[in-house]
Amino acid sequence: MNKISIQIVLAIALICGTELSALAKNKNHKSIDERVDSLLSLMTIDEKIGQTVLFTSRWDVTGPILRDGEEEAIRTGKCGNVFNAHTAAYTRKLQELAVNETRLGIPLLFGYDVIHGHQTLSPISLGESASWDLDLIEKSAQMAAREASACGIHWTFAPMCDIGRDPRWGRVSEGAGEDTYLGSQIGAARVKGFQGDNIANQNTVAACVKHMAAYGAAQAGRDYHSVDMSERVLRETYLPPYKAAVDAGAKTVMTSFNDLDGVPATANSFLLKDILRNEWGFNGMVVTDYTAINELIPHGVAEDEYHAGILAMKAGVDMDMEGGIYMDHLKKAVENKDVDLSELDNAVRNILRLKFELGIMDDPYKYCNEELESKEVLSTENRNTAYEMAVASCVLLKNENKVLPLSKEEKIAVIGPLANSKRDLLGSWKAAGKPQSVEQTILDAIIANSSKGNVKFALGCGVSKPSKEGFAKAIDIASKSDKIVMVMGEKWNMSGEAACRTNLDFPGVQKELILEISKLNKPVVLVFMTGRSMTIENESNLVDALMNVWYPGTEGGRAVADLLFGHKIPSGKLTMTMPRNVGQIPIFYNYKNTGRPFNPNKPKDTYKSRYLDVANTPLYEFGYGLSYSTLSYSEISLSKNIFEKGKNIIASVKLTNTGDFDADEVVQLYIHDQVASVTRPVKELKAFDKIHLKKGETKTLTFTIDEEMLKFFRKDMSYGAEEGNFTLFIGGSSATQNSIEFELTGVSK
Ligand code: BGC
Repeated sequence: MNKISIQIVLAIALICGTELSALAKNKNHKSIDERVDSLLSLMTIDEKIGQTVLFTSRWDVTGPILRDGEEEAIRTGKCGNVFNAHTAAYTRKLQELAVNETRLGIPLLFGYDVIHGHQTLSPISLGESASWDLDLIEKSAQMAAREASACGIHWTFAPMCDIGRDPRWGRVSEGAGEDTYLGSQIGAARVKGFQGDNIANQNTVAACVKHMAAYGAAQAGRDYHSVDMSERVLRETYLPPYKAAVDAGAKTVMTSFNDLDGVPATANSFLLKDILRNEWGFNGMVVTDYTAINELIPHGVAEDEYHAGILAMKAGVDMDMEGGIYMDHLKKAVENKDVDLSELDNAVRNILRLKFELGIMDDPYKYCNEELESKEVLSTENRNTAYEMAVASCVLLKNENKVLPLSKEEKIAVIGPLANSKRDLLGSWKAAGKPQSVEQTILDAIIANSSKGNVKFALGCGVSKPSKEGFAKAIDIASKSDKIVMVMGEKWNMSGEAACRTNLDFPGVQKELILEISKLNKPVVLVFMTGRSMTIENESNLVDALMNVWYPGTEGGRAVADLLFGHKIPSGKLTMTMPRNVGQIPIFYNYKNTGRPFNPNKPKDTYKSRYLDVANTPLYEFGYGLSYSTLSYSEISLSKNIFEKGKNIIASVKLTNTGDFDADEVVQLYIHDQVASVTRPVKELKAFDKIHLKKGETKTLTFTIDEEMLKFFRKDMSYGAEEGNFTLFIGGSSATQNSIEFELTGVSK
């Protein structure tokens, strides 16, 4: 029995002498809440506060460092939790300090940003979302959990469930794109992947839903900026993905940096208590984002650290990430009765419960197994999952004259600053991933797929450097080749946290190089890496084929080349609209019609909702992506055209693979509510399915339409459907016009 179990037994014994032997014999049959309470009853106020403290280690830097080394704080019981530390050996070393040197020996919780993998990396999260493959996304999260938990991690700061509608905001790379429904499905799939059926299993980690809330709506796409939106938009568009992740059982939630309607999220009891705890029934643990309590001071809602701590605790924040505010000020606040002891106790309960659930109270070294670590890290199984995920996430945006797939006999010029980069494949939030674990860059894999001597490479230019010195060599090898593959884009650190941009074009002189190469009149394939939607209209017009590969991860080189050579068929679809220019932002598919909608068939109409200098439409819409094959949708048929409340209708469509390759297609179903008590979007994604069709094959797909799909926040903010007419669309992107109408009756207003 470890120190804690003994202490708990003693505590119970003190309270109720007769219970000692029963509890000692039957420890595992006591509920976790009883064990939490008995432990809490032993703790001093300093020990309680120590549990609310989370400090960073130096193994990774994910924000401003406020203090030296975590070891002293652990030894003295001031810090009960650590993040940015990993490996079985190092976490064991820190765990020993907590277990052996503090009075109660409560083990540390180890957190880390395992966002798209631990050492074996899948594509960045936005890329994963473009697969629209929930099973695969869950499998990727499972893989990350297996690896991270074998390296001492108990808890990941993921999934990020922020809706991203503004690609200037660098953090769109960490989410699932612009859509509420898809984002909700993906958030839930990630939680299931990370946590499995039971976080007590050694190969799982606790998930953390972040950032609560509406962080993605930061004004002007600038990180950490304010958010101001109606409660209708908040509830309808931004909150559902967090809720879906909470409903999927996520054990923890992280507050966001932004203020919302004037109240910073970390001091926002409307978000953290009214909505999260009371409406959604969340009973897990709430952690701040990095120093977010301290930031209540520059936000201008707290005069000093003492008051910042009170605001956060009263709003429902259990754990303070890196700020040290709870550590320095909470005791005084309790003594002064500015914070009630019961509030602190509740926070500590939420933290201890998580530690019990993870099983570290009974076995603090459960996740510190070096043998397992060496078996799991970069295992073939993990690499295969990352490969599969990378293949499924790349989006083919253009393929004129069937320039793709390439053949091994063709002479290929590979050009571009990202073609031979290992680090860039990994993207931001690479966790413990290392460039040296990448076995093949895109260039390496293209060479491996080609006949000997057929591939020539030139850098051409840097990502953002102004020099054009490399142009001549690039033009030279391009002019001697059959086809040109350019690998361009943003460097890995040009998106992610604190990486916002107002110019979303290819950086540096890349645009000029693409222009020069296009003048050779040879087939050009432009492969680009990015963590956001970029503005690439000119380049898209200049090249024959265009493939968005995001930052495709450890196995990304192999995956991209296999797609280019047709060993795999592209099947990804955009989850974020690609604008024509920055002036269109925010641009997303489910906009409102307005009172003066622009009709492109009547371009001369004036006083319409439009720009003078650019079309309203995006360059590539949400849900768009090509295959090497072609797919044809039949008209939609309905089991009936009218359905009553409580009933449903079945919509079906036939899909035929009419091209020359087997293909995967993401079939998307959208609904438009024609007349409602409040204005409704022109289309909303309500269902989708990713299916495989062999060459020449036809499949019939059916979807059930029920009242639930038609619900929204009505004029009085009640949530429900309204009777009337709806348009149903089924097709291969959000621009589909393949539609039919139906009616819902019997709903009282
Ligand atoms: C980010 C979080 C992250 C945390 C810990 C913060 O700066 O906003 O998303 O989980 O750092 O690394």
